[in-house]
Order: sequence, then C-alpha cells, then structure tokens
Amino acid sequence: MKKNYFNYLLLVFVFMIGIMVSCTKEGPAGPAGANGTNGTNGTDGTDGVDGNVSCLQCHTMAIMDDLHAQYDLSAHGEGGAVGYAGGRYNCAMCHSDEGYVETQLTGRDTTAAAIPIPTKISCKTCHNDHVTFDFEVDGYVVPLRGIDAVELLAWRVSGETKTLDFGGNSNICANCHQPRVLGPVADSAGNFRVTSSHYGPHYGTQSTVLEGIGHYELGSGYPTPGSDPHRTSASCTSCHMADFASDQGGHSWWPSLDACKTCHPDATSFDVNGKQTEINGLFEELRTALVAKGLLSATFSPVPGVYPVDEAGALYNYRIIYGDHSKGVHNYDYVKTVLINSINAVK
Ligand code: HEC
Ligand code: HEC
Ligand code: HEC
Ligand code: HEC
Ligand code: HEC
Ligand code: HEC
Repeated sequence: MKKNYFNYLLLVFVFMIGIMVSCTKEGPAGPAGANGTNGTNGTDGTDGVDGNVSCLQCHTMAIMDDLHAQYDLSAHGEGGAVGYAGGRYNCAMCHSDEGYVETQLTGRDTTAAAIPIPTKISCKTCHNDHVTFDFEVDGYVVPLRGIDAVELLAWRVSGETKTLDFGGNSNICANCHQPRVLGPVADSAGNFRVTSSHYGPHYGTQSTVLEGIGHYELGSGYPTPGSDPHRTSASCTSCHMADFASDQGGHSWWPSLDACKTCHPDATSFDVNGKQTEINGLFEELRTALVAKGLLSATFSPVPGVYPVDEAGALYNYRIIYGDHSKGVHNYDYVKTVLINSINAVK
C-alpha cells in the first residue's frame, strides 16, 4: 500500500508541473479577419534635395584624383624650398604647411619655434574645414583659409601699416607672394649699405607688382596703384586657376593661355603684342647697367658695399622685377616705368 501511495503522489506532482507549463502557453491563432477599407491618400510632400548630390560636386574619387594630379604638376607640389626654408621660424609662414597654418591662426609673422619636420604646401594649407554643410541656405562655399585682406609684411617690418585687398580668393596668394622688405633708406651721407648677396625684397613680389606698389621711388610717371586692368578685371586665381587644361590653370597654378584669350582673343603666347619681349629687353638693359656700376656681379648677384641710395634703389627695383617672373604681364605699364626710371638712375 505504501508503494501505491507514493505512486499517487508522483502522479499528482507530474500533473502539477504539466499545468504550470501549459499555463504559459497560448492557444492556436484564430482565422484572419476581413481586410479593412483603405484610408484616404496623404498629400505629396515637396521633394527634398538629395543630401549627397551637393557634396558630390567636389567629393568624388574622380574629382579628387584629378585635383591631386594637377597639384603634382605644380611648384607647390614640388615644394622646392621646403627642406631649406620650411622649418626656419622666420621663413616657415610661406614655405611649409605647418608654418602657414600656425601663422594664419596666430596672426604672427613667425612661428613660435622652428618646425622639426616641415611638409610642403598641400590641400589643407589653403583649405580649411567646412564652416557649414547647409549649402541650400549658405550657398556653396569652398572651405578656404587666408582669404581676408592682407597686411603687407614689408611695411609692417618698417613700422608702417599697408593693407592689400584683392577682394576674395586671391588674397590667399598675397599672403605668401609678397615682398619681405622695402627699398633702401638713405643714411645721413645719402648712401645705403647693401649687406648681402641676397639683397632685395625676396622672390615672391607678384602681389605688389600687380597692385603697382612697393618700388623704390625714382623719377615719375608711375600709374595709379590698383589701376591696371589685370588688377581690376582679372586676378591671381582667374589667370592661374582658370579651368585646368593639360598643363595649365586649376590646381597646377601655371598661368592659363585660355584665360588670356577671354580678353586677348588673338593671343598665341603670353608675349601679347610682343610686350614680354620688350620688358625682357629693358630688364637686360638695367642688369647690364648694374653690372657696369659694380652693384651686380657677373653672375647677377648683388655685390655688398656702400652705394648712393638711388643706385641701391635701382638694384632693389631690379630685384623686384626679377622676383616677379611674369616679364611684365602682371602690370605692364608699371613694370615698364620702374625699369626705365631705374635704368636712368644708373646709366
Ligand atoms: C565646392 C566644393 C565642396 C563641396 C560642395 C563640399 N566640399 Fe567638403 N571639402 C572641400 C574641400 C576643398 C575640402 C578640403 C580639402 C580636403 O580636405 O581634401 C573639403 C573637406 C571636407 C571634409 C574634411 C575636412 C572637414 O571639414 O572636416 C569633410 C568631412 C567634407 N569636406 C565633407 C563634405 C560634405 C559632407 C559635403 C556635402 C554636405 C561637402 N563636403 C561638400 C570641398 C567641398
Ligand atoms: C612672405 C612669404 C615668404 C617668406 C617669409 C619667405 N619666403 Fe622664400 N619665397 C616665397 C615665395 C612666394 C617664393 C617663390 C616665388 C616665385 O617662385 O615666384 C619664395 C622663394 C624662395 C626661394 C627660391 C626657391 C626656388 O625654388 O627657386 C628660396 C631659396 C627661399 N624662398 C628661401 C627663403 C628663406 C631662407 C626664407 C627665410 C629667411 C624665406 N624664403 C622666407 C615666400 C616667402
Ligand atoms: C595654394 C592654395 C591651394 C592649395 C594648396 C589647394 N587648393 Fe584647392 N582651391 C584653392 C582655391 C583658391 C580654390 C578656389 C578656386 C577659385 O577661386 O577659382 C580652390 C578650389 C578647390 C575645390 C573646389 C572645386 C574646384 O576645382 O575649384 C576643391 C574641391 C579643391 N580646391 C580641392 C583641393 C585639393 C584636393 C587640394 C590638394 C591636392 C587643393 N585643393 C590644394 C586653393 C588651393
Ligand atoms: C603658403 C604660401 C603660399 C601660398 C598661400 C601660395 N603660394 Fe604659390 N608659391 C609659394 C612658394 C614658397 C613657392 C615656391 C615653390 C616652393 O618652394 O614651394 C610658390 C610657387 C608658386 C608658383 C610657381 C613659381 C615658380 O617660380 O615656379 C606659382 C605660379 C604660384 N606659386 C602661384 C600661386 C597662386 C596663384 C596662389 C594663390 C591661389 C599661391 N601661389 C598661393 C608659396 C605660396
Ligand atoms: C593677367 C593674368 C595674370 C594675373 C592677374 C596674375 N598672373 Fe601671375 N603670371 C601670369 C603670367 C602670364 C606669368 C608668366 C608666364 C611666363 O612667361 O612664364 C605669370 C607668372 C607668375 C609667377 C611665376 C611663375 C613662373 O613660371 O616662374 C608667379 C609665382 C605668379 N605669376 C603668381 C601670381 C600671383 C600671386 C598673382 C596675384 C597677385 C598673379 N600671379 C596674377 C599671369 C597672371
Ligand atoms: C579680364 C581681361 C583680361 C585678361 C583675362 C587678360 N588681360 Fe591682358 N590686358 C587686358 C586689358 C584691358 C589690357 C590693357 C590694354 C588693352 O586694352 O589691350 C591688357 C594688357 C595686357 C598687356 C600689356 C600690353 C598691351 O597690349 O597693352 C599684356 C602683355 C597682357 N595684357 C597679357 C595678358 C596675358 C598673357 C594674359 C593671360 C595670362 C592676359 N593678359 C589676361 C585685359 C585682360
């Protein structure tokens, strides 16, 4: 009997567990109900702009590869002087990416210290981060740094304030393509001491030549500053960054003959109306006169020494035109006047 009682309890226990498990189960689904009636159609919303399309105007692999290939053709991409000048604290502002970015941020002319591993001018030197992605409201903005008016270094070094404003993207170029020192100032005897074989305004004089300022004043007849048609109707970027074609314009920065043709339809070279040939002739005449006077060596380097200030001024002017490299294109009337007046001062 005891065994039967035990079997009974076992049976009850198993039954209870069965109930507990089956209590958590749902019954099988009933048959589907009939479909409801369709609701009324909503009204169409206005089409949104495809968020990506605005970005793809610039950010595709094809466009970026193309821009990098153009950049590789350029002197910026070559970075010839970066190893020599890019790290030095008073050269870095124009000769390396790090130096330019730091001085743009601080507004100083020098970096706080030498730059240990300077790198060449590249995309992020001129391009900042986007300040907006709301192109619909704010318009397309290529992110650029250094587009404000430029307070010119050479004047600042001399304790004066002179500002140049090309009104837009060409101000970027003026930050670096500007002279570093002004012309000679006479001592009490009317002389000036040339102290180095590198004497002069430094190489990148293009901005002040385009503006028609910064020469050592000899004679008269200079055009009004800022009046040249290439200053008023063209710009650094319109001539040097016109649509890229094979080896010019765009991000190669080589001047574009196509850009010239928009205003000089018959141009077949930069020597429009033979004016570069004419300027080269005057330039050589000045050079010959400076060699004859002993201010330039036979290999055309400045010869240190004490000279009458106007002769040192003619040497300085020679170095401006040498550094400009455009053979008069940047400002024909101005360059011609500077050359003729300088020749007259050392003849
Ligand atoms: C008009 C040309 C242009 C358009 C349009 C454009 N960008 Fe750019 N973007 C640039 C340039 C130039 C740079 C800087 C160069 C580089 O970094 O290669 C840049 C850099 C960037 C960077 C890296 C630097 C940063 O700002 O943080 C991001 C991310 C970026 N863009 C996102 C976008 C997005 C997202 C859109 C669309 C909403 C857009 N861009 C539209 C030209 C453009
Ligand atoms: C205000 C900007 C600026 C500063 C500061 C500056 N440079 Fe330059 N330098 C330039 C520019 C721009 C060029 C190129 C001009 C051109 O080729 O038309 C250049 C050209 C040169 C070249 C000739 C490079 C070549 O490939 O022919 C040398 C060398 C040079 N700089 C050295 C220096 C040194 C050294 C210092 C500092 C003592 C210095 N630069 C400071 C802007 C600057
Ligand atoms: C020396 C300065 C400078 C450097 C370096 C530079 N850019 Fe630019 N970039 C500009 C300027 C200025 C513009 C605007 C062009 C104009 O005003 O016509 C521009 C325009 C652009 C645009 C807008 C579309 C176009 O083609 O105009 C893109 C994208 C761009 N740059 C990408 C790059 C990339 C990628 C690099 C590096 C490979 C680079 N940039 C290097 C100055 C620079
Ligand atoms: C950060 C300073 C910097 C900026 C900004 C800059 N350049 Fe330059 N550029 C240089 C230097 C330095 C060189 C000489 C090559 C080198 O050593 O990198 C040079 C070389 C050049 C050359 C070739 C000169 C030669 O003698 O072969 C051209 C053309 C030029 N730049 C045009 C421009 C234009 C146009 C702009 C504006 C869109 C611009 N640069 C902006 C510093 C700059
Ligand atoms: C009217 C068009 C035009 C304008 C505006 C212009 N350039 Fe030029 N630039 C030229 C031409 C053309 C040359 C010389 C080409 C040649 O004969 O080798 C040149 C030469 C140069 C060179 C020397 C290049 C080399 O091959 O040695 C630099 C650097 C330069 N320009 C920078 C600038 C800067 C910076 C600005 C703005 C301040 C500017 N340019 C404005 C057309 C222009
Ligand atoms: C926006 C229009 C414009 C562009 C772009 C332009 N020029 Fe000019 N250029 C002029 C005007 C206007 C004059 C004044 C003389 C004239 O009317 O021909 C001039 C004068 C000149 C002169 C002086 C000689 C003369 O005939 O009086 C030369 C040289 C010259 N340009 C070369 C060039 C070169 C090279 C380019 C391209 C790199 C170029 N220009 C791009 C408008 C332009």
